[in-house]
Amino acid sequence: MPAILFVCLGNICRSPTAEGVMRRFVAEAGLDHRLTVDSAGLGGWHAGDPPDTRAVAAAWERGYDISGQRARKISGGDFSAFDLILGMDRLNVAELQRLRPSRATAGVDLFLQAALGERRDVPDPYYGNRQDFAAVVDACERAAAALVERIAAVGMDNLAGLCRTA
Ligand code: 4NP
Repeated sequence: MPAILFVCLGNICRSPTAEGVMRRFVAEAGLDHRLTVDSAGLGGWHAGDPPDTRAVAAAWERGYDISGQRARKISGGDFSAFDLILGMDRLNVAELQRLRPSRATAGVDLFLQAALGERRDVPDPYYGNRQDFAAVVDACERAAAALVERIAAVGMDNLAGLCRTA
């Protein structure tokens, strides 16, 4: 099944939010049985943990329940198991490109670039406030809506083709 992986540093703030929001948009497009959506972190410090309580609250306020997610660290196998791996900021993408095995099949790109053609980050809210967490939900909603439209346009079998940088 075609598969998209969202990646940030800890897999407790941004990428779980992106996963939760994307799942909703994918379901609303009727694609939920045809597309796998997951998230992972570049670091393993929070592996096994639920998302940050502030991320859970910000998502909940907008109608998304991400409390059941558990953090995990990205593995080498993810670069072949997933078609598209989307980093939340440019540092994440640089690290993903460094980790990507040379024979891997996944395309790697910046989330807002692949979705919206915007070379912009989803800023790390970890040391921020409530508004910073709300801004993550905003960015994820805008980008997920556009990404689902792009997927519908290029077809499910060409997810890596959505990449603009890899
Ligand atoms: P995330 O936020 O990458 O959006 O999940 C962070 C979570 C944890 C840390 C940094 C950023 N940390 O340093 O533990």
